[in-house]
Amino acid sequence: MLELKHVSKTFFPNTINERKALIDLSLTLENGDFVTIIGGNGAGKSTLFNAVAGSFLIDSGNILLDGQDITFLRDYKRARNIGRLLQDPLKGTAPNMTIEENLTMAYQRGVKSSFRLGVGKKEQQAFRDHLAELGLGLEDRMKTKMGLLSGGQRQAVTLMMATIVTPKLLLLDEHTAALDPATAEKVALLTQKIVAKEKITTMMITHNMQQSLDCGNRTIMMDGGRMILDIKGAERSKLTVSDLLAMFKDKSKKELDNDRMLLS
Ligand SMILES: Nc1ncnc2c1ncn2[C@@H]1O[C@H](COP(=O)(O)OP(=O)(O)O)[C@@H](O)[C@H]1O
Ligand SMILES: [Mg+2]
Repeated sequence: MLELKHVSKTFFPNTINERKALIDLSLTLENGDFVTIIGGNGAGKSTLFNAVAGSFLIDSGNILLDGQDITFLRDYKRARNIGRLLQDPLKGTAPNMTIEENLTMAYQRGVKSSFRLGVGKKEQQAFRDHLAELGLGLEDRMKTKMGLLSGGQRQAVTLMMATIVTPKLLLLDEHTAALDPATAEKVALLTQKIVAKEKITTMMITHNMQQSLDCGNRTIMMDGGRMILDIKGAERSKLTVSDLLAMFKDKSKKELDNDRMLLS
């Protein structure tokens, strides 16, 4: 479903601020893969997502989505097939628009504006049903402005927006990290439910090592712009967090600088 071939990205090349954020990274995701991604701060995780989503063009290499070369495709065109959630609940939705308006916008993503029809009773009912499934009582608040919702409620609606038209790929960048623990757990469970139901090919960045093993079918560890571990199958199913930490130490020749990672 997704293929990265020798992808490299350097910020501020040939200057004192040069950052090699991705170095010759190759990765293939099968249809339905759910990959968790871990690594310390600055490892290149978000840059990997930005490269796939088209936030910038990569310096070299190729990116293929479902067989189509999207290396030079503009970000808004990729967005028709790629759903994305960021850490900040404020980033995914328009605060001055209602829940219903935000969902309508997401629902019409990828439909040429000249073909867009107003949202009818049938769609409204479908939105209500989807919202009810979130279990947050939002189905009775369709006319509420997004800006009035809590962070967790917004992330849940953003997740719904990203998946209301099933994307070919879902990118989750620490999308529960800014939420309180109970809400984070709720949104994480919801994510797993939706991904499993629609069999969406998914990549999820998390700083929670336990979550990286509990979710999905494959775990990738990044360090210094490279992939240093790629674990799946039987090897992964018997792995513990301390195994993971030991492997990180061994591969990167350093301790995890990131206390967050150990604490969670
Ligand atoms: N837009 C950007 N401009 C300049 N440098 C960037 C930019 N985005 C990321 N970087 C740099 O690239 C490296 C990888 O960053 P990032 O992908 O955000 O790491 P992670 O998400 O793993 O914490 C870091 O050194 C970071 O400072
Ligand atoms: Mg990041």
